Amino acid sequence: MTKENSNNIKDMFNKISPRYVLMNKLMTFGQDRYWRRELIRLSGLKDDNSLLDVATGTGDVIFEAIQNGIKLNKITGLDFSTGMLDVARSATRNNTADPNLKEINWIEGDALKLPFENTSFNVVTSAYLMRNVSDIDAAFTEQYRVLKPGGRVACLDTTPQAKSIMSPFINFYLIKIIPFLGSLISGNKSAYTYLPKTTKAFKTAEELQNIMIKTGFKNVSWKKYMFGTIAIHWGDKEGPTDE
Ligand SMILES: C[S@@+](CC[C@H](N)C(=O)[O-])C[C@H]1O[C@@H](n2cnc3c(N)ncnc32)[C@H](O)[C@@H]1O
Repeated sequence: MTKENSNNIKDMFNKISPRYVLMNKLMTFGQDRYWRRELIRLSGLKDDNSLLDVATGTGDVIFEAIQNGIKLNKITGLDFSTGMLDVARSATRNNTADPNLKEINWIEGDALKLPFENTSFNVVTSAYLMRNVSDIDAAFTEQYRVLKPGGRVACLDTTPQAKSIMSPFINFYLIKIIPFLGSLISGNKSAYTYLPKTTKAFKTAEELQNIMIKTGFKNVSWKKYMFGTIAIHWGDKEGPTDE
């Protein structure tokens, strides 16, 4: 992907940011929340950990971690879209109940060049990032670099579906219904034709696993959801875990 493409992606997310959360809920029948909760569970995040959520967007992975009652010692959400981060920041301002929310660092930056020192975080998560980057290897290499030894990376994204009896229905939903809903709700049909197009062209779960292994991650595993259209991958950086 060229620089121009990455600017197009940034513009696209800036445009859809006001309706992004609502559109997610509608098109996934509310399942998006469950998948983020699974991402947190499989990331092994626990009290006193430091968390980096890359491509945090409107911050929903972080909010899910906090709502699960995990008391983190450092919380950072990074994204390159100002529009998406503005929604995250205002969600934080509007919810003053949890002191954890005040501690979140929302940072504008590029997933391919993370602005953090080596070995900074216990856990690095990302949801729906890898499909958008020009260089998946580089994105995982950066995540590996900023992880502490013994830390874990966990990645949630759509995944190309294997052919099954459900395929015609799933394709109809992805290719017809989602873009229709997208134009209705967010006024941006092209952003929601981008989703099925990039999903189809994306790495299979096995290919993504191999990239993670090549990057250096150990114990790499994955789990699929929603008729095999969503996958969560996770893997560890070798070393003793912080206690
Ligand atoms: C589909 S949204 C996902 C947001 C959030 N993680 C969630 O669970 O809803 C994808 C996000 O990735 C961000 N993104 C894509 N490429 C990026 C990059 N190279 N660096 C930083 N953010 C990026 C976009 O700005 C967008 O907010």
